[in-house]
Amino acid sequence: MSERASSAHISPSAHYTGYVWYLHRLAEPAFVTGFGRFVHGLLAPISWGARVAFDLDIEQFLLQRHLQIDAQLSAAIEHGGVCQVVEIACGLSPRGRRFTARYPQLRYLEADLPLMAARKRLLLQAQGWLGTRHRVRAVDILAADGSQSLASLFAELDRSQPVVVITEGLVNYFELPLIESFWARLAEQLRQFPRATYLTELYPDLREHPRYRQLRWGVGLVGRLTRGSYPLHYRNEAAIVEGFSRCGFTSVEVFDPSRATLALGLPPSKSEGLVRVIEARI
Ligand SMILES: C[S@@+](CC[C@H](N)C(=O)[O-])C[C@H]1O[C@@H](n2cnc3c(N)ncnc32)[C@H](O)[C@@H]1O
Repeated sequence: MSERASSAHISPSAHYTGYVWYLHRLAEPAFVTGFGRFVHGLLAPISWGARVAFDLDIEQFLLQRHLQIDAQLSAAIEHGGVCQVVEIACGLSPRGRRFTARYPQLRYLEADLPLMAARKRLLLQAQGWLGTRHRVRAVDILAADGSQSLASLFAELDRSQPVVVITEGLVNYFELPLIESFWARLAEQLRQFPRATYLTELYPDLREHPRYRQLRWGVGLVGRLTRGSYPLHYRNEAAIVEGFSRCGFTSVEVFDPSRATLALGLPPSKSEGLVRVIEARI
């Protein structure tokens, strides 16, 4: 048995976000699980309280990050000639399904811990959505080597073509040194492609934000619900750019989706957003 740290306790959260994507018409009913529906119902009073008392709409934050990543991915495909995508920690996200349906030239590789990957594979297979263009395989971002390592995942790709790699809802579950070691290993893999883009969302430690106390309470709750912690990373945009550059990325752009709600088809945001989307390139 492997002695490396396990992060399997995070996987149940994918059922909740999967249900949110479905509720907001981003996913077909096949992506819904009983557990996702149950957790969503359980958290409904908390989501309502945060909205009424603090003007914080949890589902809008999730949608902002999801749709901003979608927008950056669409641009990479339509203007950057990208035809292969790897989504790590895909969970029950419908993005692979939506993008392969929209772009017939696209090859989409979804990856997650073995149990979640198996579940996703069965889900897609049952709907007839799996094929040579859309695949699922196991990966563990903590694995330095072996069949679940990044090196093994990237060995399946065409290294003569540009690539986009996505993580969503993953990085803030880990302490900064651990996630930076993943980014450094990822950057090393991405250097083998003619052009590579990494898209992720990130919750920074915005101490000056008027809703900072509520944010801390919210992330504490996420940590408790997933039996781990949910550390916030970097104090501001400059620190984000510096951090990703240190990990080996050559250009880094930081987006605040709350400033682009109109373009993303979302209601206007009442305050500066709490989530950022990072587009880091090599
Ligand atoms: C909050 S869910 C996000 C799922 C999906 N990306 C979304 O936004 O709906 C977190 C995901 O990270 C996956 N995960 C946790 N630890 C991981 C690891 N070490 N390697 C790969 N995936 C991991 C979980 O299995 C789960 O699917």
